[in-house]
Amino acid sequence: MRVSEIPALRDYWYPVAYSQDVTDKPTQVRLFDQGVVIWRDGDGVIRAALDYCPHRGARLSQGWMHDGCVVCPYHGWEYGSDGRCVRIPQLPNQSAMPPKAKLATYRTEDRYGLIWVTLSDAPREDIPLLSELEDPDYTLIHELMETWSVCAMRTVDNALDVSHLSFVHRNSVGDASRPEMSEYQVERDGNRISFSISYTAQVTEEMKRNTGLTVDTTTRTTHAELVQPLVFRGVLEYENGLKHVLYKTATPIDDDHTLFCQFIARNDAPDEDKQQLMTSIDRTIQNEDRTLLEGLPADFPVEITTEVHTKADRMTLEYRKVIAELAREGGSFRPDSTWDPLA
Ligand code: FES
Ligand SMILES: [Fe+2]
Repeated sequence: MRVSEIPALRDYWYPVAYSQDVTDKPTQVRLFDQGVVIWRDGDGVIRAALDYCPHRGARLSQGWMHDGCVVCPYHGWEYGSDGRCVRIPQLPNQSAMPPKAKLATYRTEDRYGLIWVTLSDAPREDIPLLSELEDPDYTLIHELMETWSVCAMRTVDNALDVSHLSFVHRNSVGDASRPEMSEYQVERDGNRISFSISYTAQVTEEMKRNTGLTVDTTTRTTHAELVQPLVFRGVLEYENGLKHVLYKTATPIDDDHTLFCQFIARNDAPDEDKQQLMTSIDRTIQNEDRTLLEGLPADFPVEITTEVHTKADRMTLEYRKVIAELAREGGSFRPDSTWDPLA
């Protein structure tokens, strides 16, 4: 199934920009194949609305701010923070505003350095509570936010898929000579799924600098969790007590594009140099995933008989079930009989 075929996915919050990048200049972001204009109003509050002027359809994102209002670039109508038109320059002052002269506004939140938007009036869940980011012992590091030509579910599926490490990442953190995985149990709680797995990893010189470890091999435990259908959390725990918590979010731009965002939390108060090192390692790894993922079909199979699975695929198998159930709940389930792997 494609993103557009699962309306329930619209009922969540998604990051669309870094908070520090949103100014009083109206800017377009895209969500579910829809243009959304975001801006910071006169009080510093982030606002969002459908990027469409109800007068003649111009894009507000081509407009500007005046006296705390967004000015439409076509005929200059001015809209306040609540989306209502407060001024039509062609009419005398004090004229009544047409009741329909109002932007379709959306809810926004500024959290964890990100601007989150939901298109829904009644989101199924709040913005995911990312516990480490509420804890002063952890440092938040934003690593990347970029548009990938890949379906959002594929991006999260990849995050949940540990068995690809030895191959996709064979030139970075993976070891192609040791692809076997130890036992792990997948747990399911509603739409959340999780598992923990421990394995022995080589500690390269770069990894030593990154983690503070001095040994050549170490046992690393990974706790991976699907927090929301398009939000992943992974905790990498090292023997020296270090925790490297990885968050990945996949904001659906449209069926074929995703705003991929990755940020981490660390409990070792990393200095600027270390933060740069981590970011550069993680960017390399994500580029390897991106190259692979951009070659996959946008159609995401949801019936478990469509693909071939092994016991190494339990986490991603469960993910297909979560997505299928979400589609069913919204009454939009499309059987894979029409699935086209080449689409
Ligand atoms: S289209 Fe926006 S003011 Fe006319
Ligand atoms: Fe990967």
